[in-house]
Amino acid sequence: MKLKTKPYVEWFRDSSPYINAHRQKTFVLYLGGEVFTHSNFENIVSDIALLNSLGVRLVLVHGATPQIDSYLEKHNINCRYHNDARITDDDTQICVEDAVGRLRLQIEARLSMGLINSPMHGAEIKVISGNFIKAKPLGIHDGVDYLHSGELRSVDTITISKQLEDGAIILLSPIGYSLTGEIFNLCSMELATGVAIALSADKLIYFGSNRGVLNENEQVISELQPTDLHRLIEAHGSHEGSPNGSPNGLRADTVKQLRLADTACQAGVSRCHLISFAEDGALLEEMFTRDGSGTQVCMESYEQIRSATVEDVGGIIELIRPLEEKGILVRRSRELLETEVDRFTVIIRDGMIVGCTSLYPYNGKGELACLATHPDYRNSDRGELLLRSVERDAKELGLTELFVLTTQSAHWFKERGFVAGDLADLPAERKLLYNFQRNSSVFCKRL
Ligand SMILES: CC(C)(COP(=O)(O)OP(=O)(O)OC[C@H]1O[C@@H](n2cnc3c(N)ncnc32)[C@H](O)[C@@H]1OP(=O)(O)O)[C@@H](O)C(=O)NCCC(=O)NCCS
Repeated sequence: MKLKTKPYVEWFRDSSPYINAHRQKTFVLYLGGEVFTHSNFENIVSDIALLNSLGVRLVLVHGATPQIDSYLEKHNINCRYHNDARITDDDTQICVEDAVGRLRLQIEARLSMGLINSPMHGAEIKVISGNFIKAKPLGIHDGVDYLHSGELRSVDTITISKQLEDGAIILLSPIGYSLTGEIFNLCSMELATGVAIALSADKLIYFGSNRGVLNENEQVISELQPTDLHRLIEAHGSHEGSPNGSPNGLRADTVKQLRLADTACQAGVSRCHLISFAEDGALLEEMFTRDGSGTQVCMESYEQIRSATVEDVGGIIELIRPLEEKGILVRRSRELLETEVDRFTVIIRDGMIVGCTSLYPYNGKGELACLATHPDYRNSDRGELLLRSVERDAKELGLTELFVLTTQSAHWFKERGFVAGDLADLPAERKLLYNFQRNSSVFCKRL
């Protein structure tokens, strides 16, 4: 009898591979100033606390543009811009320092909350800020002096890493200090990118107003690899200033995030994510579910086909157990899988095994066994890919024929060049192991 599992139990179990995968990893989170005035901010704080308790090393980089703008407005200061960057004169600088300082205190206060009956109860987060960022002036461009606007010069990665190891969350404001003791106003998005690169972060997460990048049907593009990413960025460049806007209705700040994500990935940050700050739980969904919630930018596909190792045994078991329980696949014990894992090929998607198969050679013939694709990922040629991989391996081993025993996938194999055989086609030693109760059909394919 199949037991009924409550959805949250299932969700918790499904997320456990991610919990293991993210532990001790370094994530840099970019939170623009608008995040702090949004009603979802409290939920984001709780999710940050949760990541911290799961052992993720977190660096938060906050922006403060709307907060600075409101100070400027209050003091009737008209700020000048050049090439979309703020020119920070003396009066603006006072507003920057006031706005950033106040916002930092507010963020620290929020992260220190611990009311009973709130998700923050018992979290006791240590938040550390300090003079970790060295800056230099942006200087003069096209004859325009940016004054106190600066750019990142270096990051004190040693001190930051020590604090992260100690379980603290690092909070960085868009401010840097120069060796001459001056204070510079930095672009927070660029700062987050620079810090992620300096720390060789595992993930750089940009919170934005969009749910990542959308396709023409308004669906989120879950993954962008270099070719598509560059195409998007270039297409936006050629539409800049055009009345029709950019393709995919990309906002300028999303394009900036994509450009920076590209730089970060090329400089060694494993993955960048664009997620929404307005969507409750977007961070958790992106980190702990297979398909995420926003757009992931990475330098190579996060799906890979390769030979299995002993570390994959747990994932293979998770994939094939339900099929064994239904009698579709023959039951294999963990011990057997551990001994025979080098005969397996797996498809890994973002750390999860979503497909597997195995090849057992017998005197010139090879048995293809245990072919499975996770039900959520079927009908996308993964089975075909695994079959082709086994055929290639079999040829390399000098085998001339593949055979398979199947109870429910006869047609799948027939459609891929296998022909019905019988017991006589099996190698003698395999024939001895034939299970008459299962009564599987035999299919063969010449290589
Ligand atoms: C067979 C299996 C591996 C195919 O995986 P997949 O990744 O979906 O494979 P592909 O995407 O390459 O092929 C999908 C096609 O095969 C068809 N197909 C899937 N299972 C089938 C089956 N049991 N019989 C006939 N056709 C099948 C699909 O309808 C689809 O065809 P379509 O594109 O014309 O609609 C998967 O269905 C599975 O894990 N089955 C349970 C395990 C099993 O039976 N293994 C074989 C014994 S070792």
